[in-house]
Amino acid sequence: MAHLPVLFEEVLLHLRPEPGDVIFDATAGGGGHAGEILKRIGPSGKLIAVDRDAEAMERIMAKFKELNSSLTCVNDDFRNIRDILGVRGISTIDGALFDLGVSSYHLDDGSRGFSFLKDGPLDMRFDTRGGISARDVVNTYSQDELRTIIKDFGEERHALLVARRICSARKAGAINTTGELAKIVDEAVGSKYRHQRLHLAARTFQALRIFVNDELAAVREGAAGAIDYLRPGARICVISFHSLEDRIVKNIFRDKKKEGHLDIVTKKPLGPGFDEIRNNPRSRSAKLRVAEKKI
Ligand SMILES: C[S@@+](CC[C@H](N)C(=O)[O-])C[C@H]1O[C@@H](n2cnc3c(N)ncnc32)[C@H](O)[C@@H]1O
Repeated sequence: MAHLPVLFEEVLLHLRPEPGDVIFDATAGGGGHAGEILKRIGPSGKLIAVDRDAEAMERIMAKFKELNSSLTCVNDDFRNIRDILGVRGISTIDGALFDLGVSSYHLDDGSRGFSFLKDGPLDMRFDTRGGISARDVVNTYSQDELRTIIKDFGEERHALLVARRICSARKAGAINTTGELAKIVDEAVGSKYRHQRLHLAARTFQALRIFVNDELAAVREGAAGAIDYLRPGARICVISFHSLEDRIVKNIFRDKKKEGHLDIVTKKPLGPGFDEIRNNPRSRSAKLRVAEKKI
């Protein structure tokens, strides 16, 4: 299924892309927001479309191939924003968008190992060219390390039970697939969560994905870098999907405001309305924060 861009109208309303603007789309993904930004900035503008996932980047290039002159595709981590803009001789930007986390393409493609609903190899890397996979973590980290990861990045109350179960299961042989891990988590905490809507494995999968991709540090570095590059009056929009990310964004905005560099546009984060949640259930936990550069 194609990826439906989340909080689409709200992002465009606040980002305010104009003809000739240079916009940094840190997480181009399926190109949902990028397509409309490209239309609005026109042939005199420039969209720097970044994604850490090579498949996403190929998709964007194919989708917008006739817009070559205004589109620059970069298969990189957005935390490298200073290098990405530096090597292209760009010293200021007119807007930045971060739409964090996974896309529907990741969740729908079992072979990427992100989903507890689709069986596949336990991977979870956005960038498959290097780094450690979820399989490496689950099979080689100590019980204590696993507990910390699952607790800190998944906010799983029963992290110790999950970590213990993983360590006992792997004695019988490596844990290789998302299906195997989902079953292990289910066995570990099934009796603890009888009446909750969230899938039992959701917290553990979120934790491993955040750890494998070092997502929280990337947001911290990427958002701070983008703020430095914004021209006065330009805006940064960040959509996050869980409280750990949202807290980081909130704190960066607060600190930059204290230093006199930013005005906060959204005193409270914006979320999807009833219709958007109905059309796109994945949007339900989205939170959009917007800030404007002062000096
Ligand atoms: C929610 S999707 C973005 C969807 C996009 N806005 C759209 O409308 O189609 C998030 C994307 O960010 C990418 N991503 C996650 N962390 C990243 C990072 N640190 N640097 C660059 N891309 C990243 C993922 O690969 C994924 O494609």
